[in-house]
Amino acid sequence: MTVPQYTFPFKHLLGIEPLSPLDVTSILDQAKAFEEVCENPEIKVVPALRKKLVVNLFFENSTRTRNSFEIAEKRLSAEIVNFDAGSSSLSKGETLIDTATNLQAMRPDIIVMRHSAPGAHTLLARHIDASIVNAGDGAHEHPTQALLDAYTMREHFGKLNGLSVAIVGDIRNSRVVRSNLWLLTKMGAKVTLVGPPTLLPAEIKETWPDVELSYDFDEVIPSMDVIMMLRCQFERGTGMYIPSQGEYAKYYQLNAARMKRAGNEAVVLHPGPLNRGVEITSEVADGPNSLILKQVTNGVPVRMSVLHLLIPSRVQLTLNAKTPKFLKNRGNLIFQKLAGGDCSPPYQPAIKRNAV
Ligand code: NCD
Repeated sequence: MTVPQYTFPFKHLLGIEPLSPLDVTSILDQAKAFEEVCENPEIKVVPALRKKLVVNLFFENSTRTRNSFEIAEKRLSAEIVNFDAGSSSLSKGETLIDTATNLQAMRPDIIVMRHSAPGAHTLLARHIDASIVNAGDGAHEHPTQALLDAYTMREHFGKLNGLSVAIVGDIRNSRVVRSNLWLLTKMGAKVTLVGPPTLLPAEIKETWPDVELSYDFDEVIPSMDVIMMLRCQFERGTGMYIPSQGEYAKYYQLNAARMKRAGNEAVVLHPGPLNRGVEITSEVADGPNSLILKQVTNGVPVRMSVLHLLIPSRVQLTLNAKTPKFLKNRGNLIFQKLAGGDCSPPYQPAIKRNAV
């Protein structure tokens, strides 16, 4: 049986905003298939990005996101170039466009970029042919983080629709919250944003009118399925908006006492890196309700899924009796080898690639 193919309708992944619920579901479903690839020591690596050049272009610090992308790229057999902004010609005054056009001359297939300027990726997309994946642009979007958060929630609860999710802390400076707002509201989750008034801009309601805003964490906790804590981004000036870290912790830290107010089934998420002792205590971060390390693990198959959907070729899937049932039901893309067959790829014609 040949599975009807889902076609990702964009050339780039610049944000969650333009995605449809079908796009989100398809990325997550395919990630599930890649999770099985990652977890199976007999497979682990697949040839989906063989002979494709992926450039990781990080203008802002990152450990886990960059490593996660690199592992995903390796598992997909890509050729990888890591571009270190600190030691690049940018430090000699080169513009982003010059850097981009020089990169373009090397014919990359995908560029994964993190940049401090919101919208830098859209600018880049106008100047080069490669597909671009946004790994974080200022306080704007961080789409793969929201996708791995959604994957983690869906894996735990079996659904996103109807989940009550509190996102707590430094809303003002967070790109993670913006991507999560797009994703969770599209998928039918009920979102409550919690934080001190100085870090919780009321204008959020203009873009996401259905989202609740609250300054009272203790009141919100008991009815939540998911408590997603955000890092206080002191490097972006959060310190100016709070009286002191101690005062902030008093009202907005997720600690054992607050966790007692949550339902037993509630889970804790945090995109990392953690400010232990500020927005979350170690007892909670490392405790039984925490899915924080699971989020890190899930980042790899989710990013594999995104990268695979962006490449201009497809592996044709033939399902057989050994194919896991959920894949048959969902009509997912996955390699024959996972389904117990041959992994040699009868490549399909280029996928439909729309403009940005
Ligand atoms: C987030 C980021 O960089 O936006 N972290 C991450 O991607 N692992 C959140 C943060 O830095 O607080």
